[in-house]
Amino acid sequence: METIEAIKTRRSIRKYKDTPVDKELVKELIELAAWAPSAMNIQPWAFLVLEGKEYLKELSTKAKELMLANIDKRPELKKYQKRLEDENYNVFHNASTVVAIYGSTDTSWYIYDCSLAAQNFMLAAHDKGLGTCWIGFAHFLFDSEEFKQKHNIPEKYRIVAPFTLGYPEKQPASGPARKDYPVFGL
Ligand SMILES: Cc1cc2nc3c(=O)[nH]c(=O)nc-3n(C[C@H](O)[C@H](O)[C@H](O)COP(=O)(O)O)c2cc1C
Repeated sequence: METIEAIKTRRSIRKYKDTPVDKELVKELIELAAWAPSAMNIQPWAFLVLEGKEYLKELSTKAKELMLANIDKRPELKKYQKRLEDENYNVFHNASTVVAIYGSTDTSWYIYDCSLAAQNFMLAAHDKGLGTCWIGFAHFLFDSEEFKQKHNIPEKYRIVAPFTLGYPEKQPASGPARKDYPVFGL
């Protein structure tokens, strides 16, 4: 797929087929993510791959609990309170694979670097017929000490980009229109 076409046709996917994603393909996408630019070429990323609908459902419940517990710190999330209280709402959209990109705090640029890696991953996945959706709702869970310990993630890594991965149930329509944005100097 041509790059500009990939940029314009990538959409957040929230409905997936049951078809599992081959591990070798996940590894290939991770390698493509790691081609991203990074400040001072530090390449501070680390990747976590989680598989299994049932396990992800369990994690979704914990993610919602933690999000609700922290909602006062993030007033922009208040509008999602009802959704987070809904026991049938799965923050991972019933996907069977989730990938999370963590950044090493050895560099203060890790959020930028890992976000670039995430965009690489998402565009490469789209090129290969896969869909992704960044899941901000997983942030507090994936950044928690307990979760990181369980998945052998050293303390110095912080979560940047958790996202679902899977085969889209159907091809998405064109995305939400982009709003007007300021352009200074042109
Ligand atoms: C930092 C970040 C957090 C997001 N969190 C969620 C989320 O928790 N759940 C979800 O369904 N989509 C989430 N999204 C996806 C956005 O809703 C989506 O990118 C936006 O509506 C634009 O749609 P598009 O990706 O199809 O162009 C998130 C996106 C970003 C960049």
